[in-house]
Amino acid sequence: MKSRTTKVTLAASAVTLLCVGASLSASPQVIAETLGRDVHAFAPMDPSTYPNNTEQPPAKAMDAATASRQHSTMTKNGSWSASPAETEPTQRPEAPSSTVEIAGSGDPEPSEEPSVEPDPQPTAEASRIESKLSESQPSPEPTKAQDAEEPIPEDLESPDSMTVIVNKLRPLPEDFAPDDLVELPDQMGTDTYELREPAAEAAKELFAAAREDGIELTVVSAYRSYAYQQELYDNYIAEHGSEVTNEMSAMPGHSEHQTGLALDVDSPDGQHTLQQSFGDTEAGQWLAEHAHEYGFVIRYPQDAQEITGFSYEPWHLRYFGEQYAKHIAEGSGVAETEFGLPPAPDYAS
Ligand code: DAL
Ligand code: ZN
Repeated sequence: MKSRTTKVTLAASAVTLLCVGASLSASPQVIAETLGRDVHAFAPMDPSTYPNNTEQPPAKAMDAATASRQHSTMTKNGSWSASPAETEPTQRPEAPSSTVEIAGSGDPEPSEEPSVEPDPQPTAEASRIESKLSESQPSPEPTKAQDAEEPIPEDLESPDSMTVIVNKLRPLPEDFAPDDLVELPDQMGTDTYELREPAAEAAKELFAAAREDGIELTVVSAYRSYAYQQELYDNYIAEHGSEVTNEMSAMPGHSEHQTGLALDVDSPDGQHTLQQSFGDTEAGQWLAEHAHEYGFVIRYPQDAQEITGFSYEPWHLRYFGEQYAKHIAEGSGVAETEFGLPPAPDYAS
């Protein structure tokens, strides 16, 4: 009898152990259903959200940085400027909560972009993030975006300024050479040519846009050192004499080509190379109409020699950046006039 009781007890214990084991290995849904509760989803935890994970920044810091970038735009000159969104505090990143989302969404991957939808019920956490964001924003001092409205550039003097004005009265130092020259792609010219990087990028865009409109362009000159300009100028003097030369070739130190921001363009057929008749060609007309859209101006326009010092050069483009090129092109077309500088018809001595 005793032995039968022992067997029954042992069998009952075995059954109990089996039930406990099955419960422990079951999924939460199974457990919840067994318990009669409603579980919507189950998602494994994303390793990137483990509290001790050091490979990624905490989700909140990452989202705040992303949101901050979303509220900024890069200007043409490469600086970051505040977008209007920054001055409208109605939009803010949703307070991220990795544990809630991961447990409730059923999505094992964290979403790539934080939502910036306004939340009608800001939480304390959201307010904290919002105030952190506004701490990291620049104070309402003049920004580049506001400067962008100024028609006259701040720096017309520094040799390496993107808006430097070089003419017969405004020379560059003999030893000046830009430090960000890059080679233009081979297909842009039959020789090797260099420009400062922003001008080179803009020139590539200009050439691509012209090509889309069925206009082929080629470079025939770009950056020229002081020494190379001296060589060219001396050759012109020898061939044409000083009067003619001084209308079309700058003395060394007075050429925009030394800035690395000027280039001479032509059509590949070479029928009008460095001739004023280039202005009447389809390519010349296209440039006159569109160069400013890519930050360039025809620096020596027609009938402006009394101001620029040089006769009409429809092939000579100067990079100023889109904002100032547009300002010049939509004004008189003459940089000196638009920037409030005196005419420079001749050298000082
Ligand atoms: N042809 C222009 C004026 C230069 O020599 O820079
Ligand atoms: Zn030129």
